[in-house]
Amino acid sequence: MVKKYRFGNPFATEAVVKDVPVSEGKPLYGEVSVGEGFSYSYSMAEGDIVYGLGEANRGINKRGYCYVSNCTDDPNHTEDKCSLYGAHNFILVWGKETFGLFVDYPSDLAFDIGFTRSDLLTISCERADLDIYVIQGEDPADIVKQFRRLIGRSYIPPKFAFGFGQSRWGYKDREDFRRVAEGYRKNHLPIDMIYMDIDYMEEYKDFTVNEERFGGFKEFVREMKGQDIRLIPIIDAGVKIEEGYPVYEEGIREGYFCTKEDGTPFTAAVWPGYTHFPDVLNPKARAWFGAKYRFLTDMGIEGFWNDMNEPAIFYTPEGVAEVTALMEEFLRDRKEDRREDARWDAKLDQKVTVIKLREKLGESSGRREDYRLFYHQADGKRIRHDQVHNLFGCNMTRAAAEGLEGIDPDKRFLLFSRSSYIGMHRYGGIWTGDNKSWWSHILLNLKMLPSLNMCGFLYIGADLGGFGANASRDLVLRWLALGVFTPLMRNHAAIGTREQECYQFEGIEDFRHILGVRYRLIPYLYSEFMKAALEDELYFKPLAFDFPEDKMAAQVEDQVLLGNELMIAPVYTQNVSGRYVYLPERMKFVKFLPEGKISEEVLEKGHHYVEIRLNEVPLFIREGKCIPVVDAAECVADLDMETVKLIGFDGASYRMYDDDGVGRNYEEPGNWSVRSLG
Ligand code: NOJ
Repeated sequence: MVKKYRFGNPFATEAVVKDVPVSEGKPLYGEVSVGEGFSYSYSMAEGDIVYGLGEANRGINKRGYCYVSNCTDDPNHTEDKCSLYGAHNFILVWGKETFGLFVDYPSDLAFDIGFTRSDLLTISCERADLDIYVIQGEDPADIVKQFRRLIGRSYIPPKFAFGFGQSRWGYKDREDFRRVAEGYRKNHLPIDMIYMDIDYMEEYKDFTVNEERFGGFKEFVREMKGQDIRLIPIIDAGVKIEEGYPVYEEGIREGYFCTKEDGTPFTAAVWPGYTHFPDVLNPKARAWFGAKYRFLTDMGIEGFWNDMNEPAIFYTPEGVAEVTALMEEFLRDRKEDRREDARWDAKLDQKVTVIKLREKLGESSGRREDYRLFYHQADGKRIRHDQVHNLFGCNMTRAAAEGLEGIDPDKRFLLFSRSSYIGMHRYGGIWTGDNKSWWSHILLNLKMLPSLNMCGFLYIGADLGGFGANASRDLVLRWLALGVFTPLMRNHAAIGTREQECYQFEGIEDFRHILGVRYRLIPYLYSEFMKAALEDELYFKPLAFDFPEDKMAAQVEDQVLLGNELMIAPVYTQNVSGRYVYLPERMKFVKFLPEGKISEEVLEKGHHYVEIRLNEVPLFIREGKCIPVVDAAECVADLDMETVKLIGFDGASYRMYDDDGVGRNYEEPGNWSVRSLG
């Protein structure tokens, strides 16, 4: 059962697709206080678990820390950070009372989940204009399912997007891409996609291709496709200000950019220098921006990643003016100070100016003030950006999805975004942004997975091998062995870091093997993904969802269930030959060993230490279950479904989904089949 409570006059975020009548009175659980702002509080019992929040820092169980929904371009995901790129305001409280809570509010929203006081959950925001949805159900899984029904079916990518993709910020011309393609194909390393970062564009201008470095682009896209490699270009949020650039000129002419208070377009610097932001909250501007993707689809492109759409702001003319004014003040003060008769307070003033200047210069990009400088035209009204900040990336990706649907309504395109809000899960997937080549980020990657699924995001993945910092061979291998299971499996790295394509390291056969395992598992992974999407289920679950009576299962933070058949437990520590796992029931411990071999061992419920070498992919098949595996292939198109066989427990059956992976005819009964083992 879902109950909706309305406070004030909320902005229509369109996160929810079902009509729910507004209930009167106070929410079923907790207390609400409306005054200057809004706050909600709930007293947690000692053993209560709090799940959710999608793309957020810290644990699967979110207790003990605070989180702020405020989409932020911050590449340093250290343990103290409270905001990342997404704003996913759904939590599930499980314990004394069990309920789901979705706070539909598109600006800064703070969740203090037992940080200030260990027994208190508070949610607060500045304006009391919001909807709260309270969901009751039979158990956590049922509550999440109801929530997912409320927010609508998750995005479904084409099947090729379940292949492996290579990316790096810095590939700058056709030759670089050919080298990567060759590195993979020549070494028989499976691959389906190579991602194009900002350097394919003409001076970072959206919907352009650099003529000198990529002339004859259509031909080049075809050349790569001839090798079964799809090129997936990036699209950034900011449109470069440049006379003669059609996207800029049209946007100005039609009034499609976000504006300042005086109605003139708002300017912010990103990669191209000064840009304007398309007003993706305005339906007309959204349709205009979305239709622009045709420029690339006409050249044969079938997928995109939307970036910098928090939207990231490096600086604004207003911010620069503030620094300049302070600098002038500082120089004036200095002159004053040098005079013989300088007064002591002049000297003090100077110190204050220096401190202010230091603060200003040290300010990271994405200044809060900048987000208060511009406006959207949405819902027939003008609304200041900071009040709907968390909806920008969501609507940029909605623009793309709707644009692509207009281009070819029967075709699935690959699409994912950096920034997001719940609701965007219907339009695309997400990658979790600029992580680092740190072992702790493998674990963070794992922990986010079930939380993201609860919020509707199914097509998800992290930059495998790490984006920032230099990656070591063992880290890349271990991270890939987790990436084998994430729907989006992409190795991506930042410019200036050590090259981490799979052929850059010694012992390429280990990489070939791990990527090969991904392809061997695609029948299962794709089938489970489709079930999760079509039946509003979780692809990744915390152990406790299926083992609610097991006290130990509830505490496991480094293993998750995948679909109904598997448990995964990746290695995320350097220099170890295995790891401890907890089995909430008897399971088959399966290892994909080099040279196509598979080892199987039945392990009893309880704690075990399992050996896992760098070149092995472990998984655990649950009691009485089995999964389909296929022979390895070097791209999704080459998977031979005739070679599918089942592994697992004798007598087990598997309900499998498969389709052409291209069209949107998901409901065909013929897409389902049941296979049995033994
Ligand atoms: C930031 C993105 O998060 C990253 O993946 C990308 O490589 C850079 N922008 C450059 O486009």
